[in-house]
Amino acid sequence: MGESIAVQYDDFQTSFNQEEKQSQYLNYGFSLNPGQTLEEKQELLCKKVFDEAHIQPGDVIVDVGFGSGQQDFLLADLYPFKKLTGYNISSNQVKNANQWAQEKNLASKMEFKLGPAETLEFNQDESVDKILAIECAFYFKRSLFYQAAARVLKSGGLLVKADISFNSLFTGYITKSEKYRNVGTLSSNSSNWQAYFRTKTIIDITRYTRSGAQQAVVKIWKNYKNMSAKTQVSWRKMAYSSQLAAWGMFLKILKYHIIVLEKR
Ligand SMILES: C[S@@+](CC[C@H](N)C(=O)[O-])C[C@H]1O[C@@H](n2cnc3c(N)ncnc32)[C@H](O)[C@@H]1O
Repeated sequence: MGESIAVQYDDFQTSFNQEEKQSQYLNYGFSLNPGQTLEEKQELLCKKVFDEAHIQPGDVIVDVGFGSGQQDFLLADLYPFKKLTGYNISSNQVKNANQWAQEKNLASKMEFKLGPAETLEFNQDESVDKILAIECAFYFKRSLFYQAAARVLKSGGLLVKADISFNSLFTGYITKSEKYRNVGTLSSNSSNWQAYFRTKTIIDITRYTRSGAQQAVVKIWKNYKNMSAKTQVSWRKMAYSSQLAAWGMFLKILKYHIIVLEKR
């Protein structure tokens, strides 16, 4: 499963680079203003997560599932911080982000590692102030991720997620399903994190992100003919899952939350 996800994101990065795309975000965005472009919404979602993380100049930060890495260069433009380590399972995305860090002379404080969020193997115990997880935790084996996050965070450190899960009404079914267990529900996911984290805030942004999921589908189909046959397969899967997500959010089957957790 992890391998096919990595291949899919490798393909996305290849087509971004082939088409020299300036905007390389891969999230559904957040907006109070439906007139905004998808790119504006995607950047706003990242900014919302950064706001909730209360980034400080001395912060050591981990960003899991960082996509192309663009969100971390946005972070570096907006806030001073001490050091950032990114984790991703897509080798093309890791390469892309490290290349960007070199070009921007930020490689001494920003490193992007090929490795899963479930182990965070490049960070020492109790050495990190903030962990960011933007639209990716539904891919993770959540209990392993929360355990690893709690290991590397200092006491009082924050884990801030922009996260999609199923409506808690479906907890009984979802927790039994092999396919959807990682996505989980707010209720099943919170029972996973409670051993390590105190819940600070949960903000339901489903209605402010749904239109972005639909815009993602339209954008993919508009660009589809320019893509290589190989990357078309990955983008087709993305269009399909984005359409399901948009319907799921409209029907209140799926929920989108910004969640702030504090290490106990
Ligand atoms: C939907 S994209 C979101 C990308 C980015 N955060 C953004 O908002 O543009 C999900 C990202 O999570 C990464 N990912 C998936 N499973 C992972 C895992 N187990 N550990 C680390 N990263 C993972 C994917 O490679 C991809 O970069």
